[in-house]
Amino acid sequence: MGGDLGEKQPRWAEIAYEAIAPAYDDFTAHHNYDLWLGELMPKLEKHGIPGKRLLDVACGTGKSFLPMLEQGWEVTACDISPAMVALAREKVGERARLFVADMRELPVYGEFDVVFCLDDAVNYLLSRGELEQALAGMRGNLGPGGLLMFDVNTLETYRTFFAEEVVVEHGGKRMIWKGRSNPDVEPGSIAEASFEVEPMEGADGPAIPPELHRERHFPEAEIREALEAVGLECLDVYGHHHDAIPKQPLDEIAHAKAVYIARAASR
Ligand SMILES: C[S@@+](CC[C@H](N)C(=O)[O-])C[C@H]1O[C@@H](n2cnc3c(N)ncnc32)[C@H](O)[C@@H]1O
Repeated sequence: MGGDLGEKQPRWAEIAYEAIAPAYDDFTAHHNYDLWLGELMPKLEKHGIPGKRLLDVACGTGKSFLPMLEQGWEVTACDISPAMVALAREKVGERARLFVADMRELPVYGEFDVVFCLDDAVNYLLSRGELEQALAGMRGNLGPGGLLMFDVNTLETYRTFFAEEVVVEHGGKRMIWKGRSNPDVEPGSIAEASFEVEPMEGADGPAIPPELHRERHFPEAEIREALEAVGLECLDVYGHHHDAIPKQPLDEIAHAKAVYIARAASR
């Protein structure tokens, strides 16, 4: 990884995820990836998936690629946070190729049939320029006929989850999310929340002091423009709420997440 980017564009996400890593799987224990991928993959299959080579960008602790590995996919994955990648490695050993990498300067790892980037990782990109850098890198990893899929949080998520305090108790940890956004936050805004952990009564394990999560909302029009700018053709846009059932059209208020599917544009 080049050092320049770190100087020009602070690595907020890396700092945040190095801190949250030991608590991430407990905090997201209710996220059901069999359900989510079970809903999303047919939306990709509709466009024809040429093979079973997956690149999972911003893979975190591996939750997004584990079901794919179990279904026989050949998995390559990367994340900006070494601590998150180390946790993924503990789960899969050598069954997946894992790297530490910043998606804003994504290496070419090969030619993939599917490149995906899931669970609002894209929202950690804080400008249109960073979004285009990341999308261009993902495009560069698509093999012939390969498909790209990613999700972003909707405005509704920044007006609710990012504007609320949420306490999750799991695995002996009390995890506290303090949203600093507000219920009227405007499209395209940057929303912040802090995350901290204290051990529950009778449990040991370290406390994690508050660390800031900064995410940017990306409206549909901006994402479509960014896709086009880097030579990607937007094939589908879906929205879904916590039931994970993709619906069209995307509704920034009725849905919690937006999902985009694209492929390399023919030039
Ligand atoms: C909410 S987690 C999702 C992780 C995983 N995809 C999942 O579904 O469980 C977001 C991930 O994005 C990663 N991330 C954020 N910015 C990144 C960047 N610029 N390059 C690579 N990874 C990044 C974080 O380190 C974190 O692991």
